[in-house]
Amino acid sequence: MKKIIITIDGWSSCGKSTLAKQLAKSLGYVYIDSGAMYRAVTLYFLRNHIDWTNDEITLDALKNIELHFVYNDKSQQSEMHLNDENVEYLIRDLVVAEKVSEVATIGLVRTFAVEQQQKMGEGKGIVMDGRDIGTTVFPDAELKIFMTAEILVRVERRFKEMFEKNPNITIEEVKNNLEMRDYIDSNREVSPLRMASDAILLDNTSISMEEQLDFALKLVSTKLK
Ligand code: DC
Repeated sequence: MKKIIITIDGWSSCGKSTLAKQLAKSLGYVYIDSGAMYRAVTLYFLRNHIDWTNDEITLDALKNIELHFVYNDKSQQSEMHLNDENVEYLIRDLVVAEKVSEVATIGLVRTFAVEQQQKMGEGKGIVMDGRDIGTTVFPDAELKIFMTAEILVRVERRFKEMFEKNPNITIEEVKNNLEMRDYIDSNREVSPLRMASDAILLDNTSISMEEQLDFALKLVSTKLK
């Protein structure tokens, strides 16, 4: 059976990972959350007080970072491990979310992540979500989806997710964080968030999860023909 690479890029919190997981499950593909890699690097930098504005220090720090996705039978998901520690939960914290876009602007960090992401796609049969997957990581991917949704819908979705972990969080904090990340992600010099010219736009502001999966599966079957 022919296997393809599916890339899902788009703005923060517009449901990329939900669709990517649904697709991977339906197709028996591997799902890779590229944002988790940038989040894990950020966590390492914060914990170790790395001055990421200094290239030499950043390069040295990256040499001490090993990232692996490890499948967890219980959660039935691949979870991010940083130097053999499961950090899947920690990297979703607002402390990391506040710095991750800044760390993701650094060319050295992007090269570090992109090289590993490209290796993961060597055997195809992969769904990867992020910001530059269809433009930089897999420019020749067979199917590229670019997702968007209205900002208020995105804020509400992320707020619900974060409120479960941290009931002190406010809607304002979540909205500010999303807007800041969207701005930095789309204005950085290296691989800014862009819709690839051959990507298909999916706005899921007012469609259900079932409808978006159905839409994406139809695209997949066209590509597999
Ligand atoms: O997908 P996410 O929200 O977990 O990503 C966290 C941050 O990582 C996002 O604000 C920008 C950065 N990122 C990136 O620059 N390139 C990617 N391919 C994925 C994420």
